[in-house]
Amino acid sequence: RRVAVFISGGGSNMVKLLESMTGDHPARPCVVFSNNPDAGGLVRARELGVPTEALPHQPFAGDRPSFEAAISTALARHAPDIICLAGFMRKLTAGFTDAWAGKMLNIHPSLLPKYKGLHTHSRALEAGDTEHGCTVHEVTARLDDGPVLGQAVVPVLPEDTPDTLAARVLTQEHRLYPAVLRRFAAGDRTPVYLRT
Ligand code: GRF
Repeated sequence: RRVAVFISGGGSNMVKLLESMTGDHPARPCVVFSNNPDAGGLVRARELGVPTEALPHQPFAGDRPSFEAAISTALARHAPDIICLAGFMRKLTAGFTDAWAGKMLNIHPSLLPKYKGLHTHSRALEAGDTEHGCTVHEVTARLDDGPVLGQAVVPVLPEDTPDTLAARVLTQEHRLYPAVLRRFAAGDRTPVYLRT
C-alpha cells in the first residue's frame, strides 16, 4: 500500500509514521503533502527520503474545491492508496472526504467523541477530566467524527497545564498512529486501545 501523509507544521506524527513503514510493514510512504510550504515537517520528510508536495491554501481563499482539486493533481503523481492526516489543520469538503472514504485517517488529540475541534487539552482540564488521550479515526465529511480505529488513554495530573497534558498525549499519538496504520494497511479495522 502507498501512503500519503498530510501535515501543516512540525510533523512529529508524520516522522513516526514514516519510520514505522519498514521491513514487513504492508505499506510504504509515497509522499508528504503540506498546505504550508514552510512546514518544518517537509524538511524532515526530505531527510527521510520521501518526496514532498506543498500548496499554500491562501491563494484559494474561499474556494476549497479548487484547492482540493490542486491537491488531487499533486497527489496523482504519487498514486497513494491511503491518506494519513497528521497535524493537518485544514478542513476538507465532502467532495474530497467522499472520494477518499474508507481510505483516509486522522489523529485527533482527544478521546472522541469528546472535544471535537480545537483546544482539546485546555477543555479537558477545564472539565476536570481525570483521563484524556488521542484518537485515530476514519475521516468523513463531519469534522473529527468518523469510525474510531484506535485510542490511547493518559492520566490527567492535578498539576497539569495544557502544555504538560499535550506533551503526554503527543507521546501516545506517536505510539498509536503507527500501530493503527499497520493494521489498517493490512485490511484490519479492529480498533487499537492503548492505556498508559
Ligand atoms: C499536535 O497538537 C497533535 O496533537 C495533533 O497535531 C498537532 C501537531 O502534530 N495531532 P505534529 O507534531 O505536526 O504531528
